[in-house]
Amino acid sequence: MKVLLTGGAGYIGSHTCVELLNQGFEAVIADDFSNSKPEAVKRITEITGKNVDLYPIDICGKVALTKLFEEQKIDAVIHFAGFKAVGESCQKPLMYYRNNLDATLTLLEVMKEFNVNKIVFSSSATVYGENNPIPYVETMPITGCTNPYGWTKLMIEQILKDTANADPDLSAVLLRYFNPIGAHPSGRIGEDPSGIPNNLLPYVAKVATGKLPKLGIFGDDYDTVDGTGVRDYIHVVDLARGHVAALQYADTHKGVEAINLGSGKGHSVLEVVNTFTRVNNIPVPYEIKPRRAGDLPEFYANAEKAKELLGWEVEYTLEDMCRDLWNWQSNNPDGY
Ligand code: UFG
Repeated sequence: MKVLLTGGAGYIGSHTCVELLNQGFEAVIADDFSNSKPEAVKRITEITGKNVDLYPIDICGKVALTKLFEEQKIDAVIHFAGFKAVGESCQKPLMYYRNNLDATLTLLEVMKEFNVNKIVFSSSATVYGENNPIPYVETMPITGCTNPYGWTKLMIEQILKDTANADPDLSAVLLRYFNPIGAHPSGRIGEDPSGIPNNLLPYVAKVATGKLPKLGIFGDDYDTVDGTGVRDYIHVVDLARGHVAALQYADTHKGVEAINLGSGKGHSVLEVVNTFTRVNNIPVPYEIKPRRAGDLPEFYANAEKAKELLGWEVEYTLEDMCRDLWNWQSNNPDGY
């Protein structure tokens, strides 16, 4: 099976590409490198010994995307491409809606034209909004998001549901990611955010290398185990394998399924920082800062549906995630 990965040079895309190639799939990547580097694609080949056809295109452009589909016999698509920074989406909502929705609409139109009817979509636990109780289950009511980035995920879920309702041949799996962290155990690919990181683990990694002086912990007065925020962290290789399982599911089932990809366990910010320090024997200086606007105190997945439908569950621990993150970061202090 030949799989198109939109945004395949990015953090999750590159790890998924490695898992696909290791399991005998063929892969084609479309990426405009707006938030990724061509070097990631070279390293995918280095890790797997397999070639990937790379299209350095913006998939919002229908002409270029159509050419890709003309040249490659694509069987299925994993759609990662999209802007993903929560804070930036509040500053530049039109840019987020234009890019994320346009990319998806163009992709679905071209897929339809070429009779490609399997798609796995990068959704997010953010679609559960702020009013659902934890753990989050796929059957919960989804009423809205707290930021434009989240809304684009929710809107794309809806677009895929409506498209599948109108087209009985379409299979769509909406993967609701929790908090992916860590890196490939080889240390050759990993997360490479531009500028000062927004997310916890990339920030911790920069502090550990000495490139940033100290971590700010956003709030220690939440009603959680130790007052700091609790999230469901998932090793990016586990997440990547979840995509392969989702693709296999989409190959044999029609219609739409939303599926959580999480561990089902929550860890606090302090637990993460302490685990990183212990496993890697590197101090991470921190100070307590005020709460960050828009943060929820605590959320984690109910991971049962992924186990039942996909036969997938996490294999890596928080220790593994912290170790593999540091292996990547210490060997690539400036990223790619
Ligand atoms: N945190 C800090 N200091 C930092 C960064 C984060 O204390 O410098 C804390 C946050 O307050 C939160 C936890 O670490 O409690 C995790 O924060 P992240 O920014 O790493 O992740 P979020 O849970 O806020 O957001 C992630 C993804 C979003 C997605 C969301 C919901 O980045 O894309 O999960 O699934 F929408």
